[in-house]
Formats: sequence, C-alpha cells, structure tokens
Amino acid sequence: MTTGRIAGAGRLRMTGYAVLQVLLSVLALVLFIVDVVAVVLSVIVVGIPILLLSVPATRWLVDLHRRMYARVLAEPVPTPYQSTAGTSALERLRIAGADPMSWRDLGWLLSALPLALTTSLVVLILFVPVVTGIAWWYGVGPIMAARSRIDRWFLAFGTTERLEQRVETLTETRNQSLDHAAAELRRIERDLHDGAQARLAGLGMTLGMAAELVDRDPDAARRMLAEARQTSSAALGDLRDVVHGIHPPVLADRGLKAAIEALALDLAVPVEVTGQAAATLAAPVESAAYFTVAECLANVAKHAGASRAWVELGGTSDLLSVVVGDDGHGGADPSSGSGMRGVARRLAAFDGTMRVSSPTGGPTLVTLEVPCDSSSPRTTPSSGRG
Ligand SMILES: Nc1ncnc2c1ncn2[C@@H]1O[C@H](COP(=O)(O)OP(=O)(O)O)[C@@H](O)[C@H]1O
Ligand SMILES: [Mg+2]
Repeated sequence: MTTGRIAGAGRLRMTGYAVLQVLLSVLALVLFIVDVVAVVLSVIVVGIPILLLSVPATRWLVDLHRRMYARVLAEPVPTPYQSTAGTSALERLRIAGADPMSWRDLGWLLSALPLALTTSLVVLILFVPVVTGIAWWYGVGPIMAARSRIDRWFLAFGTTERLEQRVETLTETRNQSLDHAAAELRRIERDLHDGAQARLAGLGMTLGMAAELVDRDPDAARRMLAEARQTSSAALGDLRDVVHGIHPPVLADRGLKAAIEALALDLAVPVEVTGQAAATLAAPVESAAYFTVAECLANVAKHAGASRAWVELGGTSDLLSVVVGDDGHGGADPSSGSGMRGVARRLAAFDGTMRVSSPTGGPTLVTLEVPCDSSSPRTTPSSGRG
C-alpha cells in the first residue's frame, strides 16, 4: 500500500472502523470473560445456557471484524466456520466447540483490547485535524492495514490450514465415491441377475421345449415361440432399464434439461422445468445432477402430496445450480432416508452440495450446486465448505 492511494476503504471510513474497534474492544473483553467462564461452568452444565447466547454473540462480533479487515485489505470476507445449517441449537454448540476457528476467535477476543489500543487508538489520536492532520493523512492507511493483517492472522485460516482442510474433504469424499461406486456395481449386478439374466434363462428353456414340440405338436410350439418372443422383449426392457440406471441415453444425446423434462413427463404430478445450465458440464457431473433431480422428483411423487412441482436450472459459467421445489406438505429430512443422502454423497465427489429447506406445511426446496471448473480447487479464502 502506497501512502498516496489507499485500497479498499477510504481514510475516513478507516477512521470510522478505528472508532468502532476501540469501542467494541471492551465488548470483546467482556465476551472473552463470559465465554471462558461459561466453558468452565459447562462442566457442571450451568455453563451451557450461557454458551448458547455467548457463542453466537462472539461470532457476530468477530464476523464484524472480519468484514472490516477484509474491507481494509480489499479481500473477500472469509467464512471459516464449519457449517451448522439445519441443526439444533445444542448440536450447533457441539460443532462450534469442535471447530478450530472457535478457539482462534477466543484468542482474538483476548487480543482485541490491546490491539485496538495500539493501532486504532493511534489513528484516532492522529485524527485531531490541526495538530497531526498530516500524520493522520499518511498514517491511517498503513496503520489500519497492519491492524487488519493481525486480525486476519487470527480470524482466517492460512494457506496451509486451508490445504489441510481440503485434503481432509477430498479423503472423505474419495472414500464416499469408492463406496458409492461399489454399491452401484452391486446394484447393477443384482439388476442384471434378477432381470435380464433370469429372463434369458427362461427364454432358453422355452425355445428348447418349442424345438422338441415342433414336429409333434406345431400349435403348442407356436404358442411357446410367441411366449419366447414376449420374454425376449421383456429382457430387452430390463436391459434398457439397467443402461438407463447407469447413464440415461437421453442425457447423453440431448443434455440435462431435456433429460429432466423426460423425467418430468413420467411423473404423476405436473412439473415445470425452467432455466438453463450456463456451465459446460462434464458427463459425470451431469449424470450426478440428473440422478439427484430424479431422486427429488421421485420423492415429490412418493412423499410430498404436492399438486405441482418445478425444476429451475441456473448458475454461472463455473457453477451449476438446480432447485427442485414442490408445493406439498414439507418435512423432507435427508437423515431419515437413504435416497437423498446417496445422491448428496455422489455430488460431494464433485465438491457439490445439496441443501434442503422443507418446513412443515411446505414448500419443499432442494437446492443443489456443483462447481464445474475443476481447475480451481476450493482453497481460496472466500470459499465455503463442501
Ligand atoms: N418432497 C418431499 N416432501 C415431503 N417429504 C419428503 C420429500 N422428500 C423427502 N421427504 C421425506 O424425507 C425422507 C427422506 O427422503 P429420502 O432420503 O429420499 O428417502 P426415501 O428412500 O424414503 O425416499 C422421506 O422418507 C420422506 O419422509
Ligand atoms: Mg427418496
């Protein structure tokens, strides 16, 4: 940062931040004391209700400072916490306790007061216009940048930590992908064994009998041949289903939207398909998205009691987003079945996520998002967790 030009936030805004930081440093110290006392008291349970209030308060305060330092350094605001979406208050507390960022927050709270005094306060003192106006003019940028770097050191993960988290995520999703692939192979094997293979065996027997009867009883032989023909077309149907379950031909031929429209036509509930994927989709991503939508639409028909449903395709050139909604009675819960969890795991292999919003009384909205630019692994500070 040069003395003449200041990136991110102007001098007055930075001075405003300095005022705020000095004022809030008192609150930070209070929160530090409350947090520590509550953690100690949680051993005898009484601390838990305090933590239920002090942890969100701490995160609010700390996030405010994350936004300020990001503004000063002209960086994206990090979102370093582990996701707690859709969990109960106690569960959120448990996740927060296991989150390494919570402990860094605590360290930062303790340092906020001395930090504010040594950096922000200097800015404030320099701001007295006549005496030290020039010092303020040249000093505010570098001083606030220094303070912001210290905040960043506490409040955002460094490159190494982000890479560690990334490796952890990849290991987990790789194992899930292997499990998923093995389960898929077993399913295909079972489908072939119980379907086409059984029918073809029956077909062989019928044809054998027809061959024996063809001289003695041509009429019976003809009936058997007709039966054999039916069995062969049923076997063909089974094979088509298996192929469809691996990679639907309509998906390969005509793309995601057309394949979803074909799904929608088969559903008892009317489904409106709108939008278009802006991203170019790799075949495995497209297929994962297709089967997720297929599962969601099957759920609409099975569980929702809906009068209509809709699928909205969208996203950007490097993100596919699909929303599947219905106007049914709500109450969808991925943890109570296997269908949604299965497709979510399949999406996770591509860093994709699935969010479910399904309050009692509806509507149910399932949002899936899959990044499509495989050349940029998500280790940038602005990225969320998959
Ligand atoms: N669109 C929906 N509307 C209402 N309830 C739903 C919907 N989708 C799923 N559910 C509920 O969530 C549960 C989990 O769904 P899923 O994981 O697909 O399992 P399942 O194998 O039962 O379909 C379902 O058993 C159902 O009770
Ligand atoms: Mg299901």
